[in-house]
Amino acid sequence: MRKIYIFDTTLRDGEQSPGVNLNMQEKVEIALQLEKLGVDRIEAGFPAASPGDLAGVNAVARAVKNASIIGLARSREQDIDAVHEALKGAQDPCIHLFLATSPIHRKHKLRMEKEQVLATAEAAIRYAKKYFDKIEFSPEDAGRTELDFLCEVTAMAIRAGATVVNIPDTVGYLNPSEFGNIFKTLKENVVGIEKIQLSAHCHDDLGMATANALAAVLNGADQIEGTINGIGERAGNTSLEEVVMALETRQDFFQAKSSLVLGEIARTSRLVSKLTGMVVPGNKAIVGANAFAHESGIHQDGMLKEKTTYEIMSPETIGLKDSKLVLGKHSGRHAFREKLVDMGYDMNDELLNATFAKFKDLADKKKNVTDEDIRALIEEKLIET
Ligand code: KIV
Ligand code: ZN
Repeated sequence: MRKIYIFDTTLRDGEQSPGVNLNMQEKVEIALQLEKLGVDRIEAGFPAASPGDLAGVNAVARAVKNASIIGLARSREQDIDAVHEALKGAQDPCIHLFLATSPIHRKHKLRMEKEQVLATAEAAIRYAKKYFDKIEFSPEDAGRTELDFLCEVTAMAIRAGATVVNIPDTVGYLNPSEFGNIFKTLKENVVGIEKIQLSAHCHDDLGMATANALAAVLNGADQIEGTINGIGERAGNTSLEEVVMALETRQDFFQAKSSLVLGEIARTSRLVSKLTGMVVPGNKAIVGANAFAHESGIHQDGMLKEKTTYEIMSPETIGLKDSKLVLGKHSGRHAFREKLVDMGYDMNDELLNATFAKFKDLADKKKNVTDEDIRALIEEKLIET
């Protein structure tokens, strides 16, 4: 089975979510949990952005022993020096350099011709080489870059000494077949491509970040970048837990998997949500509160007979206790009876039917019927009889 490397950027791209600001201790706490989760690489921040970010990256670099620690840098000497400073003490340091390559960014942001972009990126990679063995280079906005120019940029990065070339769909513009085709084209056309790892970095502006990352895997990507809970700029980044569980659940299809400790997924998600203040939507795949909850009678009946009827993965795999059967107006007698048994009530059919009728009346008025509500219904019924 081919291994897919997991590059976590919760502490860098994730922290770029509007309103999120992690202090040094919080960064270290998340990094140590990511280490337990078994991610291969942790992008800890952008040291040139502020002295606080440099200190945060350094604290992570010194605390984490079992993952490569990465600092982001623009293709400028001062940024590279800042990453060098920040990664002192790291067991396995790596620099992540980027420079935009798309026509829109070249014209409006960089005001550079293609030749200047190539020369600037090459000079930065060669400068970084004096400090680092591991260098990742990202052609920012690769998703909107001409394919032939992207091949040229990738070939240049390999010649200059990059060890990973990352393809960012910076604005979440592409669809899976277009994004997959970039990887196929690079693999088929760039001289020396077998010497480096190819990586995918997607954003979720059109809700396609996970699908695009998986399309990259199908077309030969070695590494997926993303964040826990999919947090990040605008609509966010690829959700790592989604990619990892898709690979795990559909190994038959992808023939590739990560080496993550899956049982740490739920804990990591909760920690990131707590420290960033970014609430996970209930219906979020894998880690949302409803991802393993069943409300309708038909589904609950199926679940009580055999869990695989309505669950393609088990909650225990990601470190949760169990699936939830939520009682509401769509629930049936089978789930209701199970609930009563769970709560320690042993009722004859007549009492059960009478209580079930009362429950349905209540469920019509109330979204979620709690254990307290059910207890009250039973007490009321017992008093009547
Ligand atoms: O989305 C992006 O282009 C980035 C780069 C810095 C890799 O985050
Ligand atoms: Zn990004």
